Amino acid sequence: MNGSLPAGLAARRPVPDDHGRVLAVLDTWWGGFGGPDGSRQRALLLPRLFFEHFADSSWVVEDAGGALRAFLVGFLSPAQPEVGYVHFAGVDPALQRQGVAGALYRRFAEHVSRRGARRLSCLTSPGNTTSLRFHRALGFAVVPGDDVVDGVPVHRDHDGPGLHRVLFTRVVDDGQPVGYRPRSSST
Ligand SMILES: CC(C)(COP(=O)(O)OP(=O)(O)OC[C@H]1O[C@@H](n2cnc3c(N)ncnc32)[C@H](O)[C@@H]1OP(=O)(O)O)[C@@H](O)C(=O)NCCC(=O)NCCS
Repeated sequence: MNGSLPAGLAARRPVPDDHGRVLAVLDTWWGGFGGPDGSRQRALLLPRLFFEHFADSSWVVEDAGGALRAFLVGFLSPAQPEVGYVHFAGVDPALQRQGVAGALYRRFAEHVSRRGARRLSCLTSPGNTTSLRFHRALGFAVVPGDDVVDGVPVHRDHDGPGLHRVLFTRVVDDGQPVGYRPRSSST
């Protein structure tokens, strides 16, 4: 989880007007995962308030032309100040597997660990195998659940009736996620 981004990309804090730009890419970047219901859920999970009230622990990534290429929305948990919670992250499919999300997670880990976090937490929907592979590659463990779907522990109805989730957790130590070998990077 190297904090450096590939050449030509720059990260900054989001502003409220980034909300619409992020919503506009969700379906494409998620590959239509979950069909129309998945689209509706994603849009509702990312209201404008995240770009107003959680901007200091979130990032958007743009290319040299100013086009949105990635984002991470997260926060230090107010109720569990030892936990940094990654709420949503996505990368333009054309830039995936280049370490962009890993770099954003590293920045987030450093940010929240400086403020007392000792653990990162996040979740995904059952069947999002890319998310599962990504989080496992970054050293996240899957939290045991009350069911198993396709061999993966799941928390049934975690976010409401029928909204099952896979929960991830990992330790941070001074922003250094344990057990991940950072790749070399050009920037
Ligand atoms: C999941 C996602 C954010 C990963 O972004 P990314 O920038 O491609 O991730 P990275 O390049 O930092 O990947 C780090 C490691 O995760 C693993 N990984 C990432 N994507 C993977 C995939 N599609 N298949 C298998 N392993 C994958 C790999 O081990 C990778 O390291 P490697 O490329 O050196 O093998 C991106 O695929 C995405 O935006 N998906 C759609 C949205 C989504 O599902 N988000 C989930 C979080 S809410």
